Amino acid sequence: MRNIKQECAQAASKLIRDHSIIGLGGGSTITYLIQYIKQQNLHVNIVTPSFTTKSLCLRNGLNVLHTSFIDHIDIAFDGCDEVDKDFNALKSGGGIHTKEKLIANMANEYILLVDESKFVSALTFKQPIVLEVLEDALEYVSKTIIELGGEPNYRKSAVKDGVTISDNGHLLIDATFDHVEDIPKLEDQLNSISGVIDTSLFTKVITKVIVAKEDGIEVYSK
Ligand code: 5RP
Repeated sequence: MRNIKQECAQAASKLIRDHSIIGLGGGSTITYLIQYIKQQNLHVNIVTPSFTTKSLCLRNGLNVLHTSFIDHIDIAFDGCDEVDKDFNALKSGGGIHTKEKLIANMANEYILLVDESKFVSALTFKQPIVLEVLEDALEYVSKTIIELGGEPNYRKSAVKDGVTISDNGHLLIDATFDHVEDIPKLEDQLNSISGVIDTSLFTKVITKVIVAKEDGIEVYSK
């Protein structure tokens, strides 16, 4: 039986040049990509915000660098929850989106790997936008999300006084929006709220989307 995520990862691996610095996000498609990097004996330096990806790379003998020691990335690959035909994407809510977006911005090419269920004509916003927020700004940011037409919810868990913290030790707010007229504008508006560190909405950084379809791989470029 065909494994379309694996085929997507294989197509991505063909874009990797030997001795390059590559960024990797997290998820099942990235896990396949790590296998191809290993199989093809590519000598690359990898940076990643994902603990799982980092462990997998190290266990496979791949070289992992700390992002703070480099000033650029040649090519980066990541997954997402959904991406639309205008290359706006919503990342999943693992709370590592700030570092994922840093890697996306540092990369000459930032490529999303998705199956066709995630490649949509317009983002549905069934999932919330996640905001990483300074603790002191929690109420202020929540109020501003409401003013922008959204509904804020704190991530609840026992991690820190009942609110989940990000990998950077900050708080996370899930902001639900029913309808968004101008998606890039919303990213700017959310990012300009004082106290917001970054959001899981990616509207400016994606250069390619590799879509795994039942009838083959399709590559969309900006
Ligand atoms: C992290 C993500 C993940 O990359 C995404 O959920 C992975 O999806 P898949 O397992 O289908 O490759 O968005 O923010």
